[in-house]
Parts: sequence; C-alpha cells; structure tokens
Amino acid sequence: MVLLTPGPVEIHERVLKALSEGIFSHRSDTYRRLHCEAVERLKRLAVLEDGSVYLIPGSGTTAVDAMIYGLLEPGEKVLAYVVGEFGARAVNTMKARGLQVDVIEEEWGRAVRLERLREALEDGDYTAVFLVHNETSTGVANRVLREAAELAHRHGAILLVDSVSGFAGEDLQMTPWGIDAVATATQKCLAAPPGLGIVMVRGELLERIERVSERAPPPPSIDLARYEKFLARCETPFTPPVNVVRGLVEALRLIDEAGGREARIREQEERARRFYSIIDEAGLETLAERGARSNTVAAVRLPEGVEAPDVKRRMSELGFEIATGMGPYRKSVVRIGLMGAVTIDVVEAAARTLTEVISELSRR
Ligand SMILES: Cc1ncc(COP(=O)(O)O)c(C=O)c1O
Repeated sequence: MVLLTPGPVEIHERVLKALSEGIFSHRSDTYRRLHCEAVERLKRLAVLEDGSVYLIPGSGTTAVDAMIYGLLEPGEKVLAYVVGEFGARAVNTMKARGLQVDVIEEEWGRAVRLERLREALEDGDYTAVFLVHNETSTGVANRVLREAAELAHRHGAILLVDSVSGFAGEDLQMTPWGIDAVATATQKCLAAPPGLGIVMVRGELLERIERVSERAPPPPSIDLARYEKFLARCETPFTPPVNVVRGLVEALRLIDEAGGREARIREQEERARRFYSIIDEAGLETLAERGARSNTVAAVRLPEGVEAPDVKRRMSELGFEIATGMGPYRKSVVRIGLMGAVTIDVVEAAARTLTEVISELSRR
C-alpha cells in the first residue's frame, strides 16, 4: 500500500531507520546536535536569514496554535483570509485567544484575491494578517505570500502563514519576501513522521514574543518565549519525540542532498504537472480553480453518482491510500497527497488508477 493521503506521507527508508535507532535523552549532546542541525537546515529551506525555528511536540495544529498564541495577545485585531477548512480552524483558535478577528472568505476552490486583501487592509487597523499558504481541504495554493507580506507591512501589520501542507513543496521565502511567521509540521512535504509542529519567526518578532508571553502567557506547552530560551542551547523546554527529531534531520539531509529547496519545489511542480495532465485528459475537474491548483495536494471532483468513500475504498484495494474531501465536499471530492518519498511514476500510477476507478464506478 502506498500512502498518498494529504499527510502523513511515505517516508524514505533512511528516515525509517533513523527512527528506530533507539531513544536517548533530550538533555544530551546527541540530542542537542540533532536539534540544531534540524534548525539550521529548516532555516535554509525557509530562507530565514535572521530568526528562530521552534520544534514543538505535537502536530500542525499545535504549530498554528503556538504561532497565534505566541505572537498575539487578547484584544489585538487580526485580518484572516479564509479559503477553506484550515483557515476556518485558525480563526477558531484566534477567537479562543481573545483576538478581534475580521474574516474575508472565499468560496471553497478559490484562492486569495489580493484586491480584497488590499481593500480590507485599508479599512481596518490590524496587528496581523493571517492566511493559509496551501489549503489542504480544497487543494488550493495561495501563491501571493510576497505580495501579501508587502501589503500587510504597508499597513503596519505582520503576516502569519499556515504552511502546514505547503512548506518544502510550494515556494516560500521568509526573509526575501518578508513573511513574519510560518507554522508547519513534519508529516507533510518534509516527508518525516508526524510528531512535531514547527514555528519559524523572523528575528524582529522576538521582542513581541517576549512581551506577549509576559502580558498574556500562552499555555506553557506552546509558549514561544520558553522555546526561544531553550533554543539558545539547542533544546526544547519539554520532552520532545527524540526519535522524530532524528527522523526529521535525516529527511532534511535527504532534501539537501537532492539539491535543496529549489530542487524540491521543482520536483513537486513536476509531480503536480503530470498528475493534473492525466486528470485533465480524463475530463475530470479539480475543486481548485485552475491557476491555483496545489503542487502538494490535489482535490479531484467526482462525477454525479460517484461517492468519495467508494473511490477511497476501491483505491485502497488497488494499493493507494487516499483521502475523501472535507466539509461540504466530503462525498463529492477525493484528495490525493502528491508529497512524500515516492517516485513520479507512483504519482502517475495513482492518477491513472484514480481515473479508471472513477470511470468504473460511474458505469455501475
Ligand atoms: C493547512 C493545514 N493546516 C493545519 C493542519 C493541521 O495539522 P495537523 O493535522 O497535523 O494537526 C493541516 C492538516 O492537514 C493542514 O493541512
């Protein structure tokens, strides 16, 4: 069975081996070396020239929560641009944090419109703008991070990005583009096992993190100020999944050995190009509007009468684990992860098998 869900994803055998190399203390030199190797490699992948990377036990949700609680204090105003389920979830976290949230919403399948962002920023006085880089529920990539950062900064706001399923698959450059904070996780494009949320912030924000932590402390497990203190000695404040850190380091080494960030982005583009060309040839449609189809997660619409749970079951019988749609598209869309330690041939085979399964089920 090949794991082609929108995360977790297949991991390389070297990562699998690293995971099984025993448990060790998180207060040891072995751990400290691995932690800081992961941090340095992640900074390079994010093009973060001056800033911090926090490894937080948990998942993508933990990273998004930590980014929101760590950078913003109750009462501050946030403009959230929501294009699907994961944007909506982040808004719930912001409300739980006591933030004042204004939401711009786009119909599922559509990407962020910069004009709408520009207009909304003119009307309000925001501390932060939030958006999801790659909306996993709809297979939409918002490739406007540089422009969004410029707009936010022009209006005195910082830009927070959920790139849980985008980072290391869709291009993202923190320092050159001025993205202030990014939340991601190990189990998507990094092709490591689940277990760690990752928050990356620009150096300019460290003072804010300190201030927020003093005035409105987040829960200790997601308090970025605590992570910052321990980062100075290449550790985490609380017990991390040590073998996942070792696995992550191996996954990052593999990315670097294969040519680093640019090569990785090109690889994802090529996988996506081949996948969508097979889908298009079969006359199928994606939930994502054409110009915004994600290179990491494909959301394919099903013809009338074909239901996602049936497609998922049949795909699984044929050796491919995929996911159904989410929310209103739970039955009418299937989602396929194009990420992870698989070859392009596997991605193509999945696309072909999917078209055959859909055609077989529509004849029933
Ligand atoms: C864009 C996005 N944000 C947040 C999350 C939440 O991540 P997790 O399920 O690892 O908590 C996901 C998971 O799919 C995601 O795709």
